[in-house]
Amino acid sequence: MSIRLHRRLSLSTIRRQVVGINQKVPIYNGQRIPYVNFDNAASTPTLKPVLESILDFLPWYSGVHRGSGYKSVISTATYDAARIQIAQFFGADPDYHVVIFGKNTTEAINLLADRLQFEPGDMVLTTLMEHHSNDLPWRRVAKVVRAEVDAKGALDEQDLEKKLTLYHRRIKLVAISGASNVTGWINDIHRIAALAHNYGIPIMVDGAQLAPHRAINLLPPSDPAHVDFLAISGHKLYAPFGTGVLIGPRPVFERGSPRYVGGGTVSLVTPLGVEWATPPAKDEAGSPNVIGVIALATALTVLEELGLDKIEHHEQSLIDYALGKFGRIPGLKIYGSTQPQDVNRLGVMSFELEGYHHVLVAGLLAFYGGIGVRSGCFCAQPYIQRLLGLDGTALARLRHDLYTGKARHLPGLVRISFGMYNSPEELDRLVEALQVILSYSPRYWQEQLVWDDSLECYIPRDKRFTLGIEPIS
Ligand code: ALA
Repeated sequence: MSIRLHRRLSLSTIRRQVVGINQKVPIYNGQRIPYVNFDNAASTPTLKPVLESILDFLPWYSGVHRGSGYKSVISTATYDAARIQIAQFFGADPDYHVVIFGKNTTEAINLLADRLQFEPGDMVLTTLMEHHSNDLPWRRVAKVVRAEVDAKGALDEQDLEKKLTLYHRRIKLVAISGASNVTGWINDIHRIAALAHNYGIPIMVDGAQLAPHRAINLLPPSDPAHVDFLAISGHKLYAPFGTGVLIGPRPVFERGSPRYVGGGTVSLVTPLGVEWATPPAKDEAGSPNVIGVIALATALTVLEELGLDKIEHHEQSLIDYALGKFGRIPGLKIYGSTQPQDVNRLGVMSFELEGYHHVLVAGLLAFYGGIGVRSGCFCAQPYIQRLLGLDGTALARLRHDLYTGKARHLPGLVRISFGMYNSPEELDRLVEALQVILSYSPRYWQEQLVWDDSLECYIPRDKRFTLGIEPIS
């Protein structure tokens, strides 16, 4: 069964294809208003074509690579075809690369950290702008060296080059994000790949943020600018059904034993021994997430049909619109590029509103504006600390305050992030909500909300507000 879209799609009408786009949510007084989602960097909503392809497939669903019944056979064929399609979307070569499915980018990077065979003293060169998922897994297996960022948070490529030159004998991998989940800065992955390859060092790109917004092509392995490993997540690609992908050269995954062992990972098990299966089966322990893989393949088909160039163009116009409006809001400071028409950034904007705590702003946007954003450090604490200029003394004080209960929250920012379906009208609502926030003091607002320990956010104090999910009508 190959993936078929039910209708032709166009970016200008894509909002109609977003599940829950007209969903109303309760605000502080119990009234319901249409939700605006500006938290696409965390997770994107589902697309209707993705849902439809799952519904088309479900009557045929059965175990893959396990059964001989018709449904199993067709499920296996569909799963394998989706793997090939996903490989092609990223320019992978089926003869050279292997596409391994897991839960998300975090799992994919952990898998790679586990499978690359590091020796004591080996280094991984990464950057200060990484998500924790592209930093912590490397700390476990190697010494981590980080390239610096400049005052606006963009990668300092000269520093990266300097560190590469200085430590190239020890560096076993360059691990870099395609784009930042905090500032949206895009890294020149192919230029960095070429630099790394000059020293024979492979490169891994954390493509979680970049993939929904720009075409990523690994390029043929013979090209000096090729990317060796790529990790991405379905839930940031309009297919939130629990699939992540790691792509890399097959020989790397032929070596060694898998992280998780059990069903599906073996070709022979005797009471005394085991022969591991060939990749990718070796690294996909247990029954795989067939539905999630079909969902992701469908979402990529949709992106292809819409055109990533058109998506880029639309999102750039949203960024420019937002920059124009934000420039007129007193006390709003953006961390990152404030340059209109800056092609080196995605629609991910982190900012502070002078005098108003980031968690409070996010809570107010949610329950006075019906707008979903994220606040805090976005799983990139070292980067946020650098952007906010927190030095060693400030961090030591912060650690002390957290341990002694004097501080509930880390210093952080408010983040908005666009998806291909967001509109200027939604940005108008955001700007209006920010203006309402600014028209009252932080102290006034503090009294309107109450901190909920289990939800880890503010919710309205007003008794008319209730939490609950209503079926989509
Ligand atoms: N990495 C996701 C984010 O940036 C969860 O919000």
